[in-house]
Amino acid sequence: MMSCLQSWPEPVVRVQHLSDSGIRVIPERYVKKPSDRPSFCDSLSGEANIPVIDMKGLYSDDASVRQKTAGMISGACREWGFFQVVNHGVRQEVMGRAREAWREFFKLPLEEKQKYANAPSTYEGYGSRLGVEKGISLDWSDYFFLNYLPLALRDQNKWPALPLSCRELVGEYCREVVELGGRLMKILSSNLGLGEEYLQEAFGGEEFGACMRVNYYPKCPQPDLTLGLSSHSDPGGMTLLFPDDNVSGLQVRRGEKWMTVDPVPNAFIVNIGDQLQVLSNANYKSVEHRVIVNSEKERVSIALFYNPRGDMLIKPAEELVTEDRPPLYPPTIYDEYRLYMRTRGPRGKSQVESLKSSLQ
Ligand code: OGA
Ligand code: NI
Repeated sequence: MMSCLQSWPEPVVRVQHLSDSGIRVIPERYVKKPSDRPSFCDSLSGEANIPVIDMKGLYSDDASVRQKTAGMISGACREWGFFQVVNHGVRQEVMGRAREAWREFFKLPLEEKQKYANAPSTYEGYGSRLGVEKGISLDWSDYFFLNYLPLALRDQNKWPALPLSCRELVGEYCREVVELGGRLMKILSSNLGLGEEYLQEAFGGEEFGACMRVNYYPKCPQPDLTLGLSSHSDPGGMTLLFPDDNVSGLQVRRGEKWMTVDPVPNAFIVNIGDQLQVLSNANYKSVEHRVIVNSEKERVSIALFYNPRGDMLIKPAEELVTEDRPPLYPPTIYDEYRLYMRTRGPRGKSQVESLKSSLQ
């Protein structure tokens, strides 16, 4: 099925090296149409921020604190599709060391990184574009993508051998963040009135997927004309993002405006992906987001995608389908769903919306 995505249609340009070359004008391919540029509509900044949730409250001795914390998570999933978590249990030291290792990786000479050059068949490795269609608009970023789970898809030889600590740190980081993801899945599930295990089971139980994408956003000489990552909703289940501690850049859509997220130090930014929107029959929102770049500082973020197993059929939970609220989405196999973005690149919420309209 994925054989249609064998190789890139054009030579791949590493954005980091474009940036390092000192160009003052960015190539046409990166220039967005005016309505997609960062300055097109006012951004909301400083006025609002996505909810910040202290996870300690979930394990409080006081039942009312537990309830209030779960309620905040529920509200965030329904209204924002995004929240930040603190006291999440992932060791700060592991987070810091993992990020340092990735910064080192991107500093390596181009030839070393090229050993991991990726292809669209699996996307694993060092990449610089999303989507295989010839001539599509490109974003101002490079990335490294790898599979952590299920075990059958894990191939450590495809992870960076340099810096020397990288493979071990990726393993440690993923183990802890996946554990956090599992705890959140239980809360998200019971907040829907489903059993605690419902969502995890729908993802394939122990065979669920987890993959990591490290995003590298180089400095950009014309940040007003482009985006580091175009507007998209995440196609998978749930995303746990460790944003850069020095530079902001993530923007979340709020109606017609874009809100720049102000990251809390050492927090994770959690967001709902399309599969949880489908499973929850749109009680939870998978919200569009994008990344802006700047001319002063590069930015590194680490996204962990907590996903269904590739062959799982994902559809609205029966319990959330009523006469007043019919199923909003048809059943779809996750591997087929994710091909859309892998073929066409980031395109707002067009995929989940088109899934919905296929039922009307
Ligand atoms: C993503 C993403 C945001 C960021 O990787 O899907 O939205 O801040 N990343 O890098
Ligand atoms: Ni995303």
